[in-house]
Amino acid sequence: MYKTTISEVHKYVDQEVRIGVWLANKRSSGKIAFLQLRDGTGFIQGVVAKSDVEEEVFQLAKSITQESSLYVTGSVQKDERSPLGYELLVNGLEIIHQATDYPITPKEHGTEFLMDHRHLWLRSKRQHAVMKVRNEIIRATYEFFNNQGFTKVDPPILTGSSPEGGSELFHTKYFEEDAFLSQSGQLHLEAAAMALGKVFSFGPTFRAEKSKTRRHLIEFWMIEPEMAFYEHEDSLKVQEEYVSYVVQSVLENCQIELKTLGRDTSKLENIKAPFPRITYDDAVKLLHEKGFNDIEWGDDFGAPHETAIAESYDKPVFITHYPTALKAFYMQPAPGRPEVVLCADLIAPEGYGEIIGGSERIHDYDLLKQRLDEHNLPMDAYKWYLELRQYGSVPHSGFGLGLERTVAWISGVEHVRETIPFPRLLNRLYP
Ligand code: 4AD
Ligand code: MG
Repeated sequence: MYKTTISEVHKYVDQEVRIGVWLANKRSSGKIAFLQLRDGTGFIQGVVAKSDVEEEVFQLAKSITQESSLYVTGSVQKDERSPLGYELLVNGLEIIHQATDYPITPKEHGTEFLMDHRHLWLRSKRQHAVMKVRNEIIRATYEFFNNQGFTKVDPPILTGSSPEGGSELFHTKYFEEDAFLSQSGQLHLEAAAMALGKVFSFGPTFRAEKSKTRRHLIEFWMIEPEMAFYEHEDSLKVQEEYVSYVVQSVLENCQIELKTLGRDTSKLENIKAPFPRITYDDAVKLLHEKGFNDIEWGDDFGAPHETAIAESYDKPVFITHYPTALKAFYMQPAPGRPEVVLCADLIAPEGYGEIIGGSERIHDYDLLKQRLDEHNLPMDAYKWYLELRQYGSVPHSGFGLGLERTVAWISGVEHVRETIPFPRLLNRLYP
């Protein structure tokens, strides 16, 4: 007998195996019990036939409760109808722990109830599938950037300077000093890019945003590449290749999960570089054509605007050259048009909104100093950042991809709260 996992049963067709599992769900009649079993690697149906097992085993199968833990033994059978392709013909059950009154039953529950039980909700088939997609995106991210010669670096989480503007910062004490939780590793990544060329980070990001939307988390994870000698256009190429790579990897390696989630994969198959581009100027015109008369040149786009723009394309779309006044202090002005910057937001299809924000960075010392002044940023906190422009300054670009929004889009789940194990939302720090 082989001790194995659900993900490995394909190696043991018609052989006896033993697996540590939880009971996810159960159906039984007088003659047969169908056990939905899960072990973290996947889900499998265990079939217990009264005529084939000892009476004691059949009685156990009938009495075992949802989320009890047990060892199950049985023989692996091919089964075309199951998403996994296999089921288990059970001949033995050893209960490890009998669970009583598991709160999440197969009936419908409200969102707040599920969120209060997130520590248990994570066990459900759908949540399991989303976490597997998230993991595949992370895996493919490391693979992509390693293949492209990037070095992973880890910028600090406790910082004294803010890349994206002061209003959304989490303050904390750093002994006697004031500090902030990182809202982007970008500034430190720029320093690392001058040392290592092409770098990327993957870390937690904190934004004290009072936004309660399907796209906003207070704590989220961001992948931030930064590249020396890369201009705006070079960076867009990396972005579209990276996003295509991630989508194609999920399609290849998460077939069961995408099926569980009911994702329309035909919409994902098409996600291959190059992606369309539209300038902010043309996006405003497009919005006017679509009847959005509320928007004027110089206004930022809201979620409905982004969705309307994205609807014109079947791939993610870059909106480029936003007004300088709308964007962060460090962005490089467009040549001959200082009122717009060399930046792009990548908008996902199907209403998932902005998944990437990126730009070419100012590399001229005087211009950057002027921008810091204009934004009333404290020169002492940014002294080191300015110094990067004093010693062999070069054009460079980078971007940040929001992991949870990307998971939501690829998985096809409506709200980012289901894309991170323990979401931190406005008014939610539990569990
Ligand atoms: O557009 P943002 O603010 O860009 C930056 O922070 C740059 N410094 C990144 C860089 O160039 N290195 O954030 C980048 C992405 C957004 O496109 C979005 O996907 C995600 O981070 N994001 C959020 N995701 C979930 N909840 C929030 N509150 C988010 N805010 C931004
Ligand atoms: Mg942005």
